[in-house]
Amino acid sequence: MSAEHSFYITTPIYYLNGLPHIGHAYTTIAADAIARWRRAKGHSVRFLTGTDEHGQKVMESARARGLEPQAHCDEIVEHWKAAWNKLDIQYDRFIRTTDDDHRAVVQRVLQKLWDADLIYRADYQGWYSVTDETFVTEKDVREGKHPDPDSLQQITETNYFFRMSRYQDALLAHIEANPAFLQPASRRNEVLGFLRQPLEDLCISRPRSRMGWGIALPFDEDFVTYVWFDALLNYLTGTGYHPDAEEPAAWRAWWPADFHLIGKDILTTHAVYWSTMLLAMGLPLPRTLFAHGWWTSVDGEKISKSKGNAIDVMLLVDEFGVDATRYFFLREIAFGADGGFSYEGFFNRYNADLANDFGNLVHRALSMTSKWLGGVVPPMGQIGEAEAALVELAGAAIVGFDEGVEALQFHRALDCLWDLVRAGNKYIDSTEPWRLNREGRTAELGTAMRMTLEICALAGALLPAVMPERSAALLASLGLTPAQGAELVTRLLGGAAPLAALTEGAPVVLGEQLFPRHREMPARIAALFEVTSAAPAAAPKPVKTPKPEKKPMDTPEEKVEDPTKPLITYDDFAKLDLRAGTVRTSEKHPKADRLLVLTVDVGEPEPRTIVAGIANRYAPEELVGRQVVVVCNLKPAKLRGIVSQGMLLAAGGQDVVDLVHVGADPGVIVR
Ligand code: MSP
Repeated sequence: MSAEHSFYITTPIYYLNGLPHIGHAYTTIAADAIARWRRAKGHSVRFLTGTDEHGQKVMESARARGLEPQAHCDEIVEHWKAAWNKLDIQYDRFIRTTDDDHRAVVQRVLQKLWDADLIYRADYQGWYSVTDETFVTEKDVREGKHPDPDSLQQITETNYFFRMSRYQDALLAHIEANPAFLQPASRRNEVLGFLRQPLEDLCISRPRSRMGWGIALPFDEDFVTYVWFDALLNYLTGTGYHPDAEEPAAWRAWWPADFHLIGKDILTTHAVYWSTMLLAMGLPLPRTLFAHGWWTSVDGEKISKSKGNAIDVMLLVDEFGVDATRYFFLREIAFGADGGFSYEGFFNRYNADLANDFGNLVHRALSMTSKWLGGVVPPMGQIGEAEAALVELAGAAIVGFDEGVEALQFHRALDCLWDLVRAGNKYIDSTEPWRLNREGRTAELGTAMRMTLEICALAGALLPAVMPERSAALLASLGLTPAQGAELVTRLLGGAAPLAALTEGAPVVLGEQLFPRHREMPARIAALFEVTSAAPAAAPKPVKTPKPEKKPMDTPEEKVEDPTKPLITYDDFAKLDLRAGTVRTSEKHPKADRLLVLTVDVGEPEPRTIVAGIANRYAPEELVGRQVVVVCNLKPAKLRGIVSQGMLLAAGGQDVVDLVHVGADPGVIVR
């Protein structure tokens, strides 16, 4: 295996305190998509996923079910494996932190760090968050920065500490020198910000007397390993790593990992804890840590087990199919950004992109070829301007798809391909094969259908990464196997001419519709709204009657709101008094659920009162201390009885996605 063509990708390992939901499925689908793409390109791929089984959360879940933790995990893990199976996840190993080889790796690493005096024993007195299983600084508690203050307990105990602080400078230097290490760039800045504060040592043990479900410290049986220290090492266990392996060791083919995909909430544990652990072990850091955003409910809340607003991914798979589900998650939002999930959004995208654009193109190509051309691939006749334009677009789709997937910008990759799919539909509309057939212009009809079939073949070759099942069906209807599809990818990326994959005279088969149109929301999903409407906190937005159906030949309108406004002059812009501010207090508006009442310091003697429609996105306490941008000369307005003396700049429309942040003192002018 040549080093440049080996590819190692991981997902987080998931806690076994519940069942998979869309957040977990999302990372796993994304990792699977790029792993499949790399395999299609002929690379050696190792894709690792699995479960995080130790620690307090899992122990408490087991207890609540009256089971021993191991028995609980053995049972729940099967649901996770079944879910990944159902989502067509092709992992190379499913690791469990209770696996013997993993325990051995954790203990061996701990022993080595202890022997090297990189772990020491000391007393700790302070705050501990039970839900996060982390120690919390006095300052964070004082400033109310912890999102779940009820979970905080004061504890005093002896523990073991990893000399994390020693690696602060080396880590900073690594981040500065390797822009690709932390992605997207906003996350890199977040970590750099974090590292500007002094880095403390990391407590890596829990006394067995308090929390016994974990891997024993090899040098002190009275303690178990802190769950994160244990969990992060899974990425090495997954390569076959062993610290004492003879060189050249096989695991080195996979390390450093190309990508650790993670959610933004576990950035610090990865970027800081994991990196410093690797530095202490003398191992290279992963090439890229990519932190994606959160799926939120339509009212902007993170979807999670504890919030009870989970969306049933398996229901989507049952009703719309596995490929449509995978497609939606990768297409709907940019990997890295947050996005709101609604069943209605899913339904609309399914019908527009899959049933209308893609399914329709395939159906038209196959049915017209079957009906008028004897069901065989026709010869490519005279190439005109329209055909040349399609070939060019196909070339761009191949490059764009590859670049998009490699950059984990799946939405862009798919969009490039959909440009071609839509152009294929328009091409059919303008060449009017039905007229060519009627008029007996068989050669031109052949060319039109050949072009269209070639576009389908190209889509069938590119798409298995995202839609393995439907792509295989499509390729089969064109007489191609998945292996031939993958060979086509390699040829195309090697510069072969696009839209020249099929063999003249080869039979094509008109099968079932790839993505049958859903005229209404499937009953099992529609029923959810009736059930949950009694519980507004968890209820998804009621389904509006889906938009009037587009005629099959229409090109869909983009669903994006047009953000353009008439041009303004600089003088118009200069009328705005924009200033940096810091939120001092924040509380719910007594009369309106959507509104928060804030006081914001904008560098004046008294903070201003600002009423903001952001309660969909933020809990009041989250905002205290936050640096924002304020429009200070907006005419004061009374909002449900409270006068608002300005406005915060925010991203998003009605549903705020994020507040604009500047790292500047209150009152500093923004322009
Ligand atoms: N066990 C740790 C990870 C250890 S990795 C060495 C853990 N597990 S988790 O099950 O709680 O979460 C796993 C991942 O799911 C995280 O990356 C988290 O960001 C992601 N998601 C959980 N809810 C999510 C959404 N609503 N949306 C997107 N992803 C979110 O943390």
